[in-house]
Amino acid sequence: MLIRSRKPWDVIDYKTTDENVYLNRRSLLRAMGIAGAGLASASVVGGSFAPFVSSARAASIAGFPATRNPAFTLDRPVTVEEEAITYTNFYEFGSSKNIWRKARKLVTDPWIITIEGLVDNPLQLDASELIVRTGPQEERLYRHRCVEAWAMAVPWTGVPMSRLVTLVQPKAEAKYIRLETFFDPSVAIGQRQSWYPWPYVEGMTIDEAMNEMAFIGTGLYGRAMEKQNGAPLRIVLPWKYGFKSIKSIVKMTFTDQRPVSFWEKLAANEYGFWANVNPDVDHPRWSQATERMLGTGKRVATQLYNGYGEQVAYLYKDMKGEGDRLFR
Ligand code: MTE
Repeated sequence: MLIRSRKPWDVIDYKTTDENVYLNRRSLLRAMGIAGAGLASASVVGGSFAPFVSSARAASIAGFPATRNPAFTLDRPVTVEEEAITYTNFYEFGSSKNIWRKARKLVTDPWIITIEGLVDNPLQLDASELIVRTGPQEERLYRHRCVEAWAMAVPWTGVPMSRLVTLVQPKAEAKYIRLETFFDPSVAIGQRQSWYPWPYVEGMTIDEAMNEMAFIGTGLYGRAMEKQNGAPLRIVLPWKYGFKSIKSIVKMTFTDQRPVSFWEKLAANEYGFWANVNPDVDHPRWSQATERMLGTGKRVATQLYNGYGEQVAYLYKDMKGEGDRLFR
């Protein structure tokens, strides 16, 4: 999502080399009889054969694997784990997808989170303590759709966002939650690029946060979150484009002001506040009608609200005058 002269999707071929590497990895796994087995393969893929699975994921949060909540099902196979953890967007570590090694340098234990603003119970505590206080954790299968038109299907571990809201008790005037990622250019080399408005910021309404789909992710594939996927905790809003799902959060501020996000600051006409998935509203520079599934490369039709309309459409039904902005 580079906004300057060359955009990653104008691109060119940031993918070519990576894809070759992935293909090689996949054929290796296939030779071992592992690739394509989806979730069942996760523990094997996490073994000594796979150097891209971290042996020391964010250690402070306990409780993996968590019990899967059967209410959240998929219409497609789970993406092979190595794809989900090696093809990531984390601009703090660079604009390529292949930043997983660089992200390993991030120290995620201890990890202090501040929750402040218009709440009765402000908190400052370690991520592990926050999860104890909002637990128990559960596993959910979610579709995950990037604005760049690639997608995956992931078993996230975490807790419902609504539990955090209930814990801190917003004041009546609070309407939004502003979320902020760490800022540490000594580790996150992408943050040395001063044209970006660091730190990464995102936001949602409190009504969205109270929706059953809104999730705080602490892990994936049955283990604690990989750093490149946003350890120790991140947001997961599966009906919105992936850039809303902010990683490695250090601060949440309850406010009556609509937050201006990192991408909105850079290009408001392309990355708006709402960013709900919609195949009928194209990005100004490309179509959103279909998406490429990581792992298989198969193109599938994109669904309104990423297929979660039944759960979330009510949030937007009375919004007048937002038009396309709901979806961009
Ligand atoms: N959060 C932070 N802090 N920095 C980022 O660059 N990228 C976003 C989102 N959260 C990003 C972020 C984008 S564009 C997407 S698509 C998702 O993370 C990707 O999540 P994944 O890499 O775990 O698939």
